[in-house]
Parts: sequence; structure tokens; C-alpha cells
Amino acid sequence: MPDMSRVLEHARIPELPNPYYGKVRDNYDLPADATHGPRRIIISSDRLSAFDRILCCVPWKGQVLTQLARYWFDATADICPNHVLSYPDPNVVLGRKLEILPVEMVVRGYLAGTTGTSILTLYKRGQREMYGHRLPDGLRDNEALPAPIITPTSKAFDGGHDEPLTAEGIVAAGLVSQAQWDQLAEYTLKLFARGQEMARSRGLILVDTKYEFGLDTDGRILLADEIHTPDSSRYWIADGYEAAFDAGTRPPSFDKDVIRAWVAARCDPYHDPIPEIPAEMIAETARVYIEAFERITGTAFVPDSSGVTPLDRIRANLAPFFG
Ligand SMILES: Nc1ncnc2c1ncn2[C@@H]1O[C@H](COP(=O)(O)OP(=O)(O)OP(=O)(O)O)[C@@H](O)[C@H]1O
Ligand SMILES: [Mg+2]
Repeated sequence: MPDMSRVLEHARIPELPNPYYGKVRDNYDLPADATHGPRRIIISSDRLSAFDRILCCVPWKGQVLTQLARYWFDATADICPNHVLSYPDPNVVLGRKLEILPVEMVVRGYLAGTTGTSILTLYKRGQREMYGHRLPDGLRDNEALPAPIITPTSKAFDGGHDEPLTAEGIVAAGLVSQAQWDQLAEYTLKLFARGQEMARSRGLILVDTKYEFGLDTDGRILLADEIHTPDSSRYWIADGYEAAFDAGTRPPSFDKDVIRAWVAARCDPYHDPIPEIPAEMIAETARVYIEAFERITGTAFVPDSSGVTPLDRIRANLAPFFG
């Protein structure tokens, strides 16, 4: 059974300024000083979020996500500059604080997905025009698209729901300029191509993902947030894809959604109280996140083994930033 005493449920640190407690990450903005522009401390907790709420905590999840994002930030820095300044702790990114652009750059390589905004859902309803793209007739569930497409949504800053957009609509609405859009689209497609190619070399298929970008104080576009983590991306296991595709079943993937499915089968997850999640299911989900890290990077996951709790360790590592 997982040792839940070593879980990072939250990273509320009163000595740090300007908190923003997100669904999964706890963030603090450090104001600009004489030597640095504005910076943001982004701490990944172990919270598992779905249905716009927190279901439970999964041991090591925050460390896995931080280290996976690190792997991909390093592997893509030649394509696109990113927000990272340093990694003061296994669960923490110190980044440049950016003005996040109000567009989520979703990119998809396959006809897949289950939500109302997924292209498979729209396609099965008979739609062929979506997000400003025209898809050919005759595509089957989970088939590779002729080429990856960007299916942007607006970034709802008030907890509202993402809405499907087109490039023209985004520019017309003034969310970003045409020149910014062109740069975002170029970065998005290049990052995704690199992700797909590297995943493929590890026996994985990067199916779709989401990027967030922001502007630095010079107006330069940088990649923000996280990249190619299991929380922002869908991966399939390449070995097994063909057979599943032929059979019309869902390709094998990192099965990290068992808790989500278990909860949805037992209550109205948007309104009812969340039932207590079995400890074995939490342990299994932790195992899946670690497996994802190891499959994607080809290196062993090294869980932090310092004697203190993760929160005490993070506090110690962030003490230099206390006001
Ligand atoms: N470099 C950055 N500068 C400013 N904000 C950032 C940066 N990188 C990420 N963010 C923002 O920090 C937050 C990270 O926390 P988290 O993802 O848990 O929030 P959230 O509740 O999911 O909110 P959101 O729905 O906006 O993602 C996000 O709002 C993300 O847009
Ligand atoms: Mg988020």
C-alpha cells in the first residue's frame, strides 16, 4: 500500500507571496527585482483532478509530472524557448512569470477522444468541418489523420468551459495577433512532431496534447506550463495499436483513468460527494504514472527519499525565496 504520509496534498507556504492555488499546482509569483524579471514558482502537488474537482492524491504524481515536463522542456528547447529558469526541488519549477495567452493550443494526430470537444465525437456526429479544418470522409475510430491538426480552445480564466475555435476566429476576436498566431502554430506543430518522433522511438504514440504559451516582458512568446505529460497528453502503446485499430477497440494506453471511471460509475461526479477511493486503486495509479515516466524517458524513476515529508523538503528548498 502507498505510504500516504509522504503525499503532497498541497503546498501552501505562507512565507511565499501572491499565491494562486490551481487544481493540481500551487503557484507563487515573485515580483521583479533588480536582477530578475517577474518569476513564478510552480509546485506540482499529488492531487488528481477530474470533473473540475479533486478526486484524491496519488503518491509521487507531482514529482513524476515535474520530472517528465523537465525531460521534454530539455528535449525541445532548440525548437521553442520555454519558461524554465531552474528546478529548485523535484516537484518545483521556477519559471519566468508570463502573460499567458488566452488560447489553449491543442494538437491532434489521430481521430480520438471522448469529450464533447474531441474530434472523434464531432466526426461521429457527421461533422467534417471542425476547428477550421476539413477532415476526409471514411476515417475510422482512432485512425491517424492525414496530418496533425491544431484544434484550439479558449483558455477560460474563470473556470468556464473550453470552447472550440478556429485560427480565423481567434485572430478576429483579438485573442492574439495574426503574427502571434503564426508563431504559435509553428511552435505547436514542431513541438508535436518532436514529441511524436521521440515517443515513437520508445514504442509509444503521442496521440494528442495541449500547450500553453505566454509573453515575457519583451513580448517574446515562450512555452509555459507543462509539456507532454500524461495530464496534458494522450499516449498509446505502439505495440498493440494495429490490433486494436483493426478490431475497432481502444488502443492500449497508460491506464491512469481508473479512478476517474470508478468514480463516474458510482455517482454524479459533478455534484455528488466523492466516495472513498480504494487504496489499491490509488497505489495502482501511482504505479501507472511511474511506468509512464519510465517508458517515455527510458530512465528509472528515482522517488525522493529524503527523510522529511515532501512539504518540509519543498519548504527547505524554497526558503531562499521567502520574503
Ligand atoms: N510561466 C507561467 N507564467 C504564468 N502563469 C503560468 C506559467 N506557467 C503556467 N502558468 C499557469 O499556472 C497555473 C498552473 O496551475 P494549475 O494548472 O494547477 O491551474 P489550474 O487550476 O489547472 O488552472 P488552469 O485551468 O488555468 O490550468 C495555470 O493557470 C497555468 O496557466
Ligand atoms: Mg492547468
